[in-house]
Amino acid sequence: MFHSRERSRYLSFHGLTVFLLLGVGLMAHGSATLDRDPHSFSNPDQIRVSHLELKLGVDFSRKVLVGEAIWNLERQPGSPAEAALVLDTRGLSIIEVAAAHGDSRWEKTAFKLGPADPILGVPLSITLPAEASRVRIRYETSPSASALQWVEPGGTAGKKYPFLFTQSQAIHARSWIPCQDTPAVRVTYRASVSVKGDANTAAFPLRVVMAAELRKSADAAVSEFEMTRAIPSYLIALAVGELVFKPLGDRTGIWAEPSVVEKAAWEFADTEKMVQAAEAAFGPYRWGRYDILVLPPSFPYGGMENPLLTFATPTVLAGDRSQVALIAHELAHSWSGNLVTNATWADFWLNEGFTVYLERRIVESVIGRDRVEMEQVLGEGDLKEGLATLPPSDQILHINLKERDPDEGVTRIPYEKGALFLEALARKVGREKLRQFLAGYFDHFAFRSITTAEFEAYLRETLFPGVEVPVDLQAWLHEPGLPPHAPHFESPRFEKIIKSAQDWLDGAPLPSADETRDWSTLEWLQFLRSMPKDLSSERLARLDQSYGFTKTGNAEVACQWFQMAIRAGYPPAVEPLESYLRTVGRRKFVVPLYKALIQSPEGRERARRIFEQARDGYHPIAVESITKILSAKGVAE
Ligand code: BES
Ligand code: ZN
Repeated sequence: MFHSRERSRYLSFHGLTVFLLLGVGLMAHGSATLDRDPHSFSNPDQIRVSHLELKLGVDFSRKVLVGEAIWNLERQPGSPAEAALVLDTRGLSIIEVAAAHGDSRWEKTAFKLGPADPILGVPLSITLPAEASRVRIRYETSPSASALQWVEPGGTAGKKYPFLFTQSQAIHARSWIPCQDTPAVRVTYRASVSVKGDANTAAFPLRVVMAAELRKSADAAVSEFEMTRAIPSYLIALAVGELVFKPLGDRTGIWAEPSVVEKAAWEFADTEKMVQAAEAAFGPYRWGRYDILVLPPSFPYGGMENPLLTFATPTVLAGDRSQVALIAHELAHSWSGNLVTNATWADFWLNEGFTVYLERRIVESVIGRDRVEMEQVLGEGDLKEGLATLPPSDQILHINLKERDPDEGVTRIPYEKGALFLEALARKVGREKLRQFLAGYFDHFAFRSITTAEFEAYLRETLFPGVEVPVDLQAWLHEPGLPPHAPHFESPRFEKIIKSAQDWLDGAPLPSADETRDWSTLEWLQFLRSMPKDLSSERLARLDQSYGFTKTGNAEVACQWFQMAIRAGYPPAVEPLESYLRTVGRRKFVVPLYKALIQSPEGRERARRIFEQARDGYHPIAVESITKILSAKGVAE
């Protein structure tokens, strides 16, 4: 059988099919082949793509993208002349493939799609004339493409027009662009995108945005973009909707639906300050503009660091500026992640752990110490919970994800254990020295993708030349759990919250409106989390009466509250919970709620019923996670 995991490659030469065993490749190119990303079928060690010219037609009526991708190719030294170009695809219909040398004429060429792997998709092997330097693929996406969400008008703020957005991380880019879908390969691109209306939707006021620079287009019906800095495929991003723009500063601004843009501009007013704080600490912002796109609530993540244009959930619009850490986080990825990128998904902690550490330095400098202390304590709590529930192999920073979906590596470990590792270093060498190290690291590896081993070597050479590393690198990066003497965080502000919760449980009155007036989302979260797991329905009713949790418009607080309500079987929350699950599709919120529901047989039934109604409004990635939860054997069954 033709299967990448069996380490073989199919090549088809005009109907003649040849097996090329990887072993042969190995002899020819040394160990490079051994380092192939297990989550890509592609062969950048032989032929590497470097630049993309992308043309897309967005067809809302058929829910497909009609595409043409032209890739510039770079043959790697020593690669055999007959090597095929292998690209990743998932659910793509390939219409035609052609190759050319420089600007010469396009000649059709043979291609072959391998069998589908449930995680990796389908390898597309393209036969190339030895002199070919460009390849052109005409294709169409599937309506169920895993990167694309086609939001019905009802799922948007305006409720009038449909909305489309992409989410390429980790390995979903292949479902809308045939590509070498590994973060080890970086490319520049130009794209032109047109939106096709149908009879009902002829005069769309729809606007196309991409995570790239907007270029003037000759034709108003076509939007043109350019990404001049080399990025990995998972950072290619597109959205189409009824979008307007509001500037925040000279280089910052908000894209959102008209009814959302003002609220978002207020919430994210500190963005310019955050860019400045990040630059002062970690070196120049190298991408030009920094804009934020607010998506419909079905966006499955809190934020996504698409370059120049962070994609964000509208559930962060809490009305109290309490969620700016999310923007600090996505902005920080402009250094850790987008400038210096994890080479494989096993190195994901290099992206997220560094980013959480940077995020907290930005929050500390823009908002203040109280806030960052609270974030750190909450983070430590999340980490402890992760360590208590995940199997040991999933507690390792440099994780083994072979044969697994890299989205499964997205736990609190790479984020919080990764950040805690940097905190441990900071406590050894001092914050300022670590800051200088990080700024140097971003500069040294700028626009490159690196492995954990490369980071380790660089750390030893630069921060500890000739001396022993004062933290246990082996334990931190390659072993489960936490090394002894891992840093621990405290927050005096939280101490007060915990005490007031405890006092109430012991019979004292609840904190008064005066006392809670300036509590932020973080303090409310901590207040609720300080309650025992089995808090009764009567107790919940009492809290609700004072603070109106069931009716809160704050998605974070609501998520925490509904989990408590599910456990207690608190009747007033039933309907609001269902309506929440029908509107919000952010994985971080819906996953714990479905998990809480399936703890009882009635809850499991309810979860199934809600999911049936809500599912069409969820992103394919969220549908996947929830399906897994509902099909897992429940504790109560
Ligand atoms: N890059 C991630 C989101 C992601 C990771 C998407 C892996 C797909 C695969 C993003 O930067 C992120 O971490 N988002 C967080 C918010 C953040 C404040 C911790 C989220 O969405 O919850
Ligand atoms: Zn992140």
